[in-house]
Amino acid sequence: MAEAHNALHHIDPKSFELEHLSPTIGTVVHGIDIATVDSTTIDWLAELLVERKVIFFRDQNVAVESHVAFARQFGELEVHPFFETGKSQHPEVIHLDNDRENPPYINIWHSDVTWRAVPSLGSILRARVVPPVGGDTLFANMEAAYEGLDDETKTRIDGLVAVHDNEGFLRGMRMRGASEDEIEAKRREFPPQRHPVVRTHPVSGRKSLYVNKAFTRSIEDIAPDESTTLLDALYAQAWLPEYQCRFQWRADSFAFWDNRAAQHYAVADYWPNERHMERVTIIGDRPR
Ligand code: SIN
Repeated sequence: MAEAHNALHHIDPKSFELEHLSPTIGTVVHGIDIATVDSTTIDWLAELLVERKVIFFRDQNVAVESHVAFARQFGELEVHPFFETGKSQHPEVIHLDNDRENPPYINIWHSDVTWRAVPSLGSILRARVVPPVGGDTLFANMEAAYEGLDDETKTRIDGLVAVHDNEGFLRGMRMRGASEDEIEAKRREFPPQRHPVVRTHPVSGRKSLYVNKAFTRSIEDIAPDESTTLLDALYAQAWLPEYQCRFQWRADSFAFWDNRAAQHYAVADYWPNERHMERVTIIGDRPR
């Protein structure tokens, strides 16, 4: 069992009040305006993010430009090759819009874009329209999930490599009427990627489990049935409530999660009510 971090004494809390949602993951930062933060605060937030895996801000009634500008202070932004991005002037903004005609489907544990050679550092999600109840997002601390493994499993997975792909997105293209040539072209542009099963955080040096149900297909160099059994056991680590926090959205709430050390799950319990979200994703580094 991982030890809970109860204090953030090495971080200057400035004038912000911190509300922890669980012992090891998730903190609401009160009293901040993401449209006007200075560089010292950006550095502090980056440190807080690594420590708490996901941080939240309430009541940020800011322009979409401020969302993009805030994200850009943490790194280069990605343009997602599968999500529709044409709904605003900003190709970096993904619109996740669900209603009666478009039921939610991201209710699967994952870390964002692990099918890329260089996956995401973090994602910053804003709620525009929320259902009257439900539509929460769950987050799992994958460092605590790794720490919670028994020693035999830790030894077994040390040095293993897993293959990640975007077949789910390609299926989505097919459902929306794309031709097989178009789908094949995307598959060639974004071929499956190999990443370590246990990655080391580039900032903290801590190890975390880096396989997820949505995008990981197999573990290399072991038998297919062994790979499936092992992956199922590793996925299940993210599902333990001890490693999780749960965030209840309000309009203009923001969540900023560290994809290098956390997974998330969008609860799909609110359909046919509406839920409209906007996500900006920061490019990270090659997992090691
Ligand atoms: C996502 O998986 O990026 C979206 C999460 C959410 O809508 O809560």
